This record gives sequence, C-alpha cells and structure tokens, in this order.
Amino acid sequence: MTLRDEVERIWPELEWIENDGLREKVTACWVRAFERSPLEPEDLSRIPFTLKVPDCPVSFLAHKRLVVHVARQSGLSIRELFGEALPVDMDTLIAGAILADVGKLLEYEGDGTGGTRQSMRGRYLRHPFTGVALAMEAGLPDAVCHIVATHAGEGNMVARTTEAWIVHHADFMTYEPFVSRLDASHS
Ligand SMILES: [Fe+2]
Repeated sequence: MTLRDEVERIWPELEWIENDGLREKVTACWVRAFERSPLEPEDLSRIPFTLKVPDCPVSFLAHKRLVVHVARQSGLSIRELFGEALPVDMDTLIAGAILADVGKLLEYEGDGTGGTRQSMRGRYLRHPFTGVALAMEAGLPDAVCHIVATHAGEGNMVARTTEAWIVHHADFMTYEPFVSRLDASHS
C-alpha cells in the first residue's frame, strides 16, 4: 500500500471535498507531512490527540476526524438556518478542518519507549506554524492556510473567517471537556 493509499484510508472525509484540485492538494499535503515525520499512518490510531491530558483516552486520528465531522455538520446547519446571512464555503471548511493538525506530524516524536513527546522543532514551531508551511508548499489556497494558522490559540490574535471560527470551536469543544469538566455524577 502506498503512502497515498494510507492517507486516503485514514481520511475517508477527503471524499467530502467536492473540488478535485483541492482534494488532491489536501491529500498531497498529508502525504508530504508523513514523508517528513517520524510517525507512520498507523501510529495516529494509537497516539493520544493531545499531550496535555494525562492518559488521554482518545486517539489522534479519532479526534482529528471528529473535528472534521463537527465542523461539517456545523457548516451545513449554519447554511440551512442562516442561509446568506452567514455564508459558509463547505470545501474550504472541510479542507481546513482536515489539515488543521497536519503540522503535528512535525511537532511530535517518539520518546524511545513507545510513547510520544514534543520534539525540539515542535517547541520552536507549534503545529499551526509547521502546518501552514506544509499547506502553502502544497499550493493550498490562502483561505485554507488561514484555517490551519488560526485554529488554535495563536489565532486569537487575528480576525478569523467564518470557516476558521467553525474549525476553532469544533476543535476546542471536543478538547476542553478532557481538560476541565464538571462531574455532575457526585451531587
Ligand atoms: Fe491543533
């Protein structure tokens, strides 16, 4: 199986991108990221999606895919109920959501004991920065690169597009409960 086949296998959501050229660039960007990463496609189902939650029960791939699903459903609902009051470009939204964390392939490294840690490069350049470098190199439109650039906390410093706001919240709403959550079962 080629690396490209592996990328298409782990990312069935690529099919949601309607524009053939855009889908190709998103796929090629992930392939290039794996070529430069110590991680293999199968590692993404094993490693945690964040290093900030001890014993995180959700894998990298499960979280990344959920963000794409939540972002897409949000975009569809906004379109259905708000229409032209808040336009959403679905291809840009889905491409940006799939690529948001591609830079993590250059942020993580193996710790030598089967675990994962942030690499020195990752400390210098968190994944929004390396992700934008990869996305620009793959020729992705600026509107998609913008989502990669602003999806995390760094993006709080600039004005986000509608699509970038959606991806930002899809990402954080599926992350923050693992960091801080009211446990109502002990009332
Ligand atoms: Fe991220």
